[in-house]
Amino acid sequence: EKGGFDTYMLKEIYEQPQALTNTLIGRLHDDTGEVNLDIGLDPQSFKRISIIACGTAYYAGLVGEYLIEQLARIPVEVDVASEYRYRNPIVSEQTLAVVVSQSGETIDTLEALREAKKGGAKTLGVINAKGSSMTRELDDTLYIHAGPEIGVASTKAYTSMVSAFVMLALWLGRARGTLDETQARDLLHAARELPRLVEEALAPERVEQIKRVAEKYAHARDYLFLGRGVNAPTAFEGALKLKEISYIHAEGYAAGEMKHGPIALIDANLPVVVVATESRLLEKTISNVQEVRARSGQVIALLSDGDTENARHADDVLYVPRAHEMVSPVVNAVALQLLAYFTATALGKDVDKPRNLAKSVTVE
Ligand code: M6R
Repeated sequence: EKGGFDTYMLKEIYEQPQALTNTLIGRLHDDTGEVNLDIGLDPQSFKRISIIACGTAYYAGLVGEYLIEQLARIPVEVDVASEYRYRNPIVSEQTLAVVVSQSGETIDTLEALREAKKGGAKTLGVINAKGSSMTRELDDTLYIHAGPEIGVASTKAYTSMVSAFVMLALWLGRARGTLDETQARDLLHAARELPRLVEEALAPERVEQIKRVAEKYAHARDYLFLGRGVNAPTAFEGALKLKEISYIHAEGYAAGEMKHGPIALIDANLPVVVVATESRLLEKTISNVQEVRARSGQVIALLSDGDTENARHADDVLYVPRAHEMVSPVVNAVALQLLAYFTATALGKDVDKPRNLAKSVTVE
């Protein structure tokens, strides 16, 4: 049932090219730059968006916020569901609430959805499980079609959710006129490349390199993950994945926040993973890398293929295929999933059933 893999998690990591194909298929039209999501929602009918989710799905939502604000210029807020449901949120008929969930059963997210509906919001779900509780209460569902995910640590659902947000942002941007046809085509093309890029990210020599690095630092007590912009959530997700299955304490930070506290943690025993793939803000990220280095921190840099220039600032480099910045979180996440995976297996942990965790959290 694990298709020749030792664990469900590894199987699901390798299923990502197919899962992404299934998420994207039939929804993107290269020739016209149009996106067809088959949802009834009127893209002009709301003024703001609230994205609500838990855990990994919440991080996918943070990428969604960035994409929607950049591409469609609609104000977005993102909440963890357990906060949203109790904070008396401001909701109206002009709010679109987007809930994100692999299982469609997470109780906090379901209750937050009910709270948003009470306030009159229109509701859309980015959901994996067909016919799940949330889908029965949503106005519209954008299925991610990632297929069943069994490993407790979410992998293919995450990258499929992020890809769904790429499509949603494109669709909103086109419908609301913030994206012209050329920009839309460009992004659409970038999105369609994702299954191939993820396949490339899973090439044996890359996986071997990630494994070596994971084993080198497997005995660290703490880990720090840094990223910026659309890849700040990649750092958060990388930290979550690592702590969840290896039990190493890890924190994810927006790179620019390092100076405001976490820099105090840095010493020779702290591996710092920096997502430093091609972006508008790469130079700024590299200066954060230098700050870590200057304090003897161990830098593990995620760099775009061919970036030998910045490799000299790092102790270890994980190269990832070049991708359009807006879709790069999908490709980058894969490397961090593998880093967490090989760290946990080096430490002999049961990655499919990490202690104290359940696949879907249906109690509060
Ligand atoms: O089924 P959901 O997407 O609603 O689940 C949300 C979280 O419980 C889930 O993402 C959790 O954080 C994962 N174990 C992360 O790998």
